[in-house]
Amino acid sequence: MTAPLGVGLLGLGTVGSAVARAMGDRPRRLEHMAGRPLRLAGAAVRDGAKARDAGGVSVTTDPFDLLDDPEVDVIVEVIGGTDPAFDLHLAAFERGKHVVTANKELVARRWNELHEAARLAKRELRFEASVAAAVPVVAAARMLAASRPRVVRGLLNGTTTYICAQLDARRAFDEALADAQRLGYAEADPSADVDGLDPAYKLSILVSLLEGRHFHPDDVRRTSLRGVTAADVDEARTRGAALRYLATADFGEKATKARVAPEEVPLGSLEGEATGPQNVVRIETDLAGTLVFSGPGAGGDATASAILGDVIAIARATR
Ligand code: NAP
Ligand code: HSE
Repeated sequence: MTAPLGVGLLGLGTVGSAVARAMGDRPRRLEHMAGRPLRLAGAAVRDGAKARDAGGVSVTTDPFDLLDDPEVDVIVEVIGGTDPAFDLHLAAFERGKHVVTANKELVARRWNELHEAARLAKRELRFEASVAAAVPVVAAARMLAASRPRVVRGLLNGTTTYICAQLDARRAFDEALADAQRLGYAEADPSADVDGLDPAYKLSILVSLLEGRHFHPDDVRRTSLRGVTAADVDEARTRGAALRYLATADFGEKATKARVAPEEVPLGSLEGEATGPQNVVRIETDLAGTLVFSGPGAGGDATASAILGDVIAIARATR
């Protein structure tokens, strides 16, 4: 039998716990799809005393217990942010581990350094879960390498879609945000959602993939969702429209312009009907025309699905 693939989890919050649970509840399916067993070596956390619903995985407060474990082949980083995540990614590559992550901020900000570190280490950096969670848009963007991109447009943040839909139903902004936090959609600091950083990171990753070079998230113009009022929602309705927090990249002849802002979308469109964590991503290119992707873009299980898809791809490629 082929040797198991060892997995070390960095982070055991909403996403990390869902990964650990899924690895615990379907080992035979994972082994069948990976061509070898997947073995979860443990998880690094900040608070070793916290109670968790994570399938009984062993925890450590020292990420180097996993980084230095010779039986760990893949590091799954779901801590979030750039510090200490960036150094932990570099430490993983230095030790010959592959890295899988859902950390869109880190991938968007440190694109060149992370790709270079992976290339030098001859290891994989995979981040399908970083954009639209379960919806395989990172793979799709890679497959569009021959096509010239024209437009990317859609809903890349579940928290703000949820808030917009709750505003439609006349709920208060702060109440809706508190719900999104409780449901596990929001970032640890939810201003990343409502002020547009999170969708800007995701848009930056998609543009970088479609252009084959880094497009920095600071080059995405952001307008916060916080200024939207019930009166704006009502006014949009009179025009047969709904307000949604849209991410858009226009690939012009000379420069790519990218923005995240509240905009009107037709009622009855995929975007107008979206009420919760579902994302909608439209990618228009010269050869492939318009492709539309839609599905769960936030939440533990949806994100674990993409992470484990990446882990399985590494397991198969390294048998
Ligand atoms: P979370 O619930 O806040 O979990 C973060 C985890 O990281 C916690 O377990 C925390 O430990 C641990 N941690 C923090 N600092 C650490 C450190 N210095 N060393 C070791 N562990 C540390 O966050 P999340 O929602 O799971 O998100 C994780 C990542 O996935 C983020 O990059 C996020 O953007 C991304 N993502 C999230 C979703 C979603 O729907 N939630 C979807 C797609 C992508 P404690 O538990 O001990 O505090
Ligand atoms: N906070 C993010 C969202 C999580 O609401 O979409 C998924 O990336």
